[in-house]
Amino acid sequence: MAYKDVYAGWQANPEGFWMEQAKAIDWDKPPSRALFADKAPLYEWFKDAQVNTCWNAVDRHVAAGHGDRLAIIHDSPVTGTVHKITFAELQTRIASLAGALRAKGIEKGDRVVIYMPMVPEALEAMLACARLGAIHSVVFGGFAAHELAVRIDDFTPKAIIAGSCGIEPGRVVHYKPLVDSAIDQAAHKPDFCVIFQREQEVAQLTPGRDFDWHGFQHGVEPAECVPVAGDHPAYVLYTSGTTGQPKGVIRPTAGHLVALNWTMKNIYNVDPGDVFWAASDVGWVVGHSYICYAPLIHGNTTVVFEGKPVGTPDAGTFWRVISEHNVRSFFTAPTAFRAIKREDPKGEYRAKYDLTCLRALYLAGERADPDTIIWAQDLLKVPVIDHWWQTETGWPIAANPMGLDPLPVKIGSPSVAMPGWDVQILDEAGHPMPAGELGAIAVKLPLPPGTLPTLWNAEDRYRKSYLSHFPGYYETGDAGMIDDDGYLYIMARTDDVINVAGHRLSTGAMEEILAGHPDVAECAVIGVTDELKGQLPMGFLCLTKGVNRPHADIVKECVARVRDQIGPVAAFKLAVVVDRLPKTRSGKILRATMVKLADSEAFKMPATIDDPAILDEIKAALQTLGYAK
Ligand code: COA
Ligand code: AMP
Repeated sequence: MAYKDVYAGWQANPEGFWMEQAKAIDWDKPPSRALFADKAPLYEWFKDAQVNTCWNAVDRHVAAGHGDRLAIIHDSPVTGTVHKITFAELQTRIASLAGALRAKGIEKGDRVVIYMPMVPEALEAMLACARLGAIHSVVFGGFAAHELAVRIDDFTPKAIIAGSCGIEPGRVVHYKPLVDSAIDQAAHKPDFCVIFQREQEVAQLTPGRDFDWHGFQHGVEPAECVPVAGDHPAYVLYTSGTTGQPKGVIRPTAGHLVALNWTMKNIYNVDPGDVFWAASDVGWVVGHSYICYAPLIHGNTTVVFEGKPVGTPDAGTFWRVISEHNVRSFFTAPTAFRAIKREDPKGEYRAKYDLTCLRALYLAGERADPDTIIWAQDLLKVPVIDHWWQTETGWPIAANPMGLDPLPVKIGSPSVAMPGWDVQILDEAGHPMPAGELGAIAVKLPLPPGTLPTLWNAEDRYRKSYLSHFPGYYETGDAGMIDDDGYLYIMARTDDVINVAGHRLSTGAMEEILAGHPDVAECAVIGVTDELKGQLPMGFLCLTKGVNRPHADIVKECVARVRDQIGPVAAFKLAVVVDRLPKTRSGKILRATMVKLADSEAFKMPATIDDPAILDEIKAALQTLGYAK
């Protein structure tokens, strides 16, 4: 079927389109209609339905006679193991875990934080919550205790489910002490913790509070699926905003099921039974949607990969996994390909594997640079599909729908808006811009099913951050343009969010941490261009009057502070001491100008700059770090 017909079909009858897609889901009580607009501009989908996510992701496949099909392949080069789990086994494991959680008091609506490495048990924990109607919030393992504590206080979980450790190349990440420290730092205390002990590190349990994953399941009654209302939150995933307080994106149950299920065939072109692999982490939205939920809901086998694109053990790991497990559609971030290209520029590892099973590569999470796309295309000889989405949306806003009649690929563009998305480019005043002109990317409300209805505990922030700038639209925070053929181009963020190796980070959050250093009077963090990671954070520190300690010591302490409080994932390693920061006459720091300077790009001197001479000082400081050439 042609994309333009499907899109036009949705435009002509949006509710009819989604009601049709809803037929693919097993409902305890089917929705009477699709959209509920009574709280507009806050919208809800399939609100009056009753449904269970775990039933749709697991039990229904067993009930349909597919219990022997593989649900999960855990491929872990860091532990040297491969482990396969069928849908029937998965059902038993989740029902038992959910039963044990229920026996400890977890019920519909209770919150559970999950802090786990890339093991099948992470998915099982998510699905066990879904089985009970409990709401989970997964925290990425690369975040430090402080970030975990911030989420615990906002989400007030009854329980925390954690792994004893994660395994990064060359080191074991001690998760349990991070959990203990986070609970100490948080004002809210969970009733109990469940610890999945890995053989690489057996953690000390706190008697009375901590329970062993296997031990606490002993002798409990397995739990059945508990139906929840269509608008019940399936999960909350925190993502970076412009401040140190992350935004809790709510994912509504019914819309999530319907929309994700639609994407698996139409965008990713897989049929039930096919193997699908998203090389990301369950701590990110890609991991939620395309490692855990979507493939399982659609009856696909999902690969849970615990490793890196390079160094575990080599730059051929991805090709081995694709070939060994018969992966049809593969999804990762462009940075992973840049890492492979740097290690193996001629793609020699690729020749060792038969990759005929692979039909397309999907890239998202950050801008896919043309060099990387072309290199990947030449290497893999399959279409390389850039697609664009956000934690808030949960599934692609723009893509090339490979399961429909695929569109021509335009390198540099994530292609076209998917059904459900009326994407427009707006000027500052909110007027639509002509084709080919740059502006803010906004989506006409309502957003489609599966997208955030609001933020957890922060409806005002939701309205302010997304709905107030352009009334009637959702503001994506990205800037770009649409060409004459309707292809989108994503150029930059319009806020202080940066993208480091596909990880979304807040420069504002880093500034808050640097400002907390006793010797730092003022600071700024910008994202500079990096060949491997896309962007890297860089800090500028103005010291308190009278401080005369060596600058190198202060920089070192600041780097350690960010690692300690946000976590290693921030990759904050570049910082420099400067006398002053460039500002406008009204005192706004000229971060965008600093970025251009660092990247050695031409820029126009801002008319509002207070003292242009400061830019020379900044340039000199940047040069000491090897930037602003
Ligand atoms: N638990 C604990 N620490 C973690 C972690 C986790 N789950 N994930 C990453 N880290 C640590 C890393 O060990 C590293 O620590 P270091 O400073 O001591 O080296 C730091 O966080 C930065 O990690 P990362 O950004 O992943 O960089 P890297 O140098 O380890 O690897 C790439 C570089 C490009 C190979 C890697 O970023 C990658 O595979 N990216 C894929 C991106 C991706 O999956 N994005 C998700 C959105 S689709
Ligand atoms: P996250 O919420 O972590 O998924 O990050 C979302 C942000 O990543 C978007 O708002 C974009 O800035 C960026 N992003 C994601 N996918 C793409 C893409 N295909 N092209 C350009 N930027 C992207």
